[in-house]
Amino acid sequence: MTLQTETQKNKQAAVGDMAGKEVKNRQMLVILDFGSQYSELIARRIRETQVYSEVLSYRTTAEQLRKINPKGIILSGGPNSVYDEAAPHCDPEIWNLGIPVLGVCYGMQLMVKQLGGKVERAQRGEYGKASLFIDDPTDLLTNVENGTTMWMSHGDSCTVLPPGFEVLAHTENTPCAAIAHHEKKLYGVQFHPEVVHSIGGIALIRNFVYHICGCQPTWTTEAFVEEAIREIRAKVGDKRVLLALSGGVDSSTLAFLLHKAIGEQLTCMFIDQGFMRKNEPERLLKLFEEQFHIPVQYVNARERFLAAIAGVTDPEEKRRRIGHEFIRVFEEESKRLGPFDYLAQGTLYPDVIESADTNVDPQTGERVAVKIKSHHNVGGLPKDLRFKLIEPLRKLFKDEVRKVARSIGLPEEIVQRHPFPGPGLAIRILGEVTAERLEILRDADYIVRQEINRYGMYNQLWQAFAVLLPIRSVGVMGDQRTYAYPVVLRFVSSEDGMTADWARVPYELLETISTRIVNEVRGVNRVVYDITSKPPSTIEWE
Ligand code: XMP
Repeated sequence: MTLQTETQKNKQAAVGDMAGKEVKNRQMLVILDFGSQYSELIARRIRETQVYSEVLSYRTTAEQLRKINPKGIILSGGPNSVYDEAAPHCDPEIWNLGIPVLGVCYGMQLMVKQLGGKVERAQRGEYGKASLFIDDPTDLLTNVENGTTMWMSHGDSCTVLPPGFEVLAHTENTPCAAIAHHEKKLYGVQFHPEVVHSIGGIALIRNFVYHICGCQPTWTTEAFVEEAIREIRAKVGDKRVLLALSGGVDSSTLAFLLHKAIGEQLTCMFIDQGFMRKNEPERLLKLFEEQFHIPVQYVNARERFLAAIAGVTDPEEKRRRIGHEFIRVFEEESKRLGPFDYLAQGTLYPDVIESADTNVDPQTGERVAVKIKSHHNVGGLPKDLRFKLIEPLRKLFKDEVRKVARSIGLPEEIVQRHPFPGPGLAIRILGEVTAERLEILRDADYIVRQEINRYGMYNQLWQAFAVLLPIRSVGVMGDQRTYAYPVVLRFVSSEDGMTADWARVPYELLETISTRIVNEVRGVNRVVYDITSKPPSTIEWE
């Protein structure tokens, strides 16, 4: 994920795909984002209750919301104090829409301030866990246990409630920890029900979603697949779509959905740059062609890519050349197989919330590709090769893609596949990449995967892979002195790849892997374990 700048955030399309379409009885909630790090998490928690939700800018107007017609609105937290000069405010007409609103932390303070109450700097801020004492166990707090733990993070507190509001719960330091205007269905909580540390948080969210907003649990995998197929057909018509298959869960799921929707109008292209893991290209082709009966245009570009980076040792230059070569092959092959009207991209919901730099065609209003997903490290496609984009996964979080992938029968090895960088093994061979070194790393990496699986550890690790160093050290095998490459094992745990820690795996596992690698992989006589976290290191070595 990229860090988002304030300008990007402000540029964020306020109402996404939904503007202009008036829909009755839409089963969805809108989260208005005031800059909280948890806005996305709120959206995920709502979706876990099987109700669709989207994050929109706090600038979304009441009029726009009226058109979207959500069943409920959640105002997120935010880093500001409501009294800051630059504090973000929402359209005050939102309070009069007749749509239930739940303000979380900053969202609650804003509600209180805008409706005539008072928010002040608390004598003591409250950070971390707090016990919630319930004064009114009805609607919002039904089934929330008295004294339950909720997670707090605030320096300001509400001291005077606006007319018509009452206190639902308090904590030791915060007299107004949960408030309500029952008649208008306006609610506020000073704590964060969405974070895992808030034990009663889920119950509270369910109360809001089901009882207060009256939502039905309609956001299911099956419903998504049906709707996606309908939308793809409506958008594509009789046009042709190109998809670059990478072997990951996103592009595989995309291929499946698109093929189901438009059959032969879809062309799946798989560019094999020669930097994938052992057997992966073969398995991918077999799976798609034999099991799913989806034809794949296989482009063997191994030699081209190897030639493109021959003699290159600088990591950035290596990435640049691989990216550049990818564009060239992509361009040639898409011309050969085309013409195509659409390019399918595996854009996910976090990319949509966070990236505002996507070009929009001024005539059609459609998003157009100026870049292929960054994992291909492609700076931009040439101007004469502009496709319209089709992004059927753009509503989904990663875990939702996995659910869909499973439901359509993709094998677990794809569903749960660890992240794999676009330039592949080429950035795990330090220094020059040669055919010989690729083979060594592929074999070592294969053993790593086999043993991690055998130990049942694959799903506990964010990534686990081997790196080949371009130096040699002395060893002894039999009575022979050896002078060969070391392999580094890089196993990490992480939530999102932004930060990571080295994984504390059992010594026996490391021992087995080490023994097997030096015995089975010619050219390697030493195995070391990387014990640095990120930061200061990165996960990949280049
Ligand atoms: P670093 O090495 O920056 O990696 O700590 C963070 C995460 O990103 C993956 N990674 C990439 N993924 N294209 C990708 O799609 C790339 O060029 C690329 N480089 C790094 C890396 O595997 C880790 O999960």
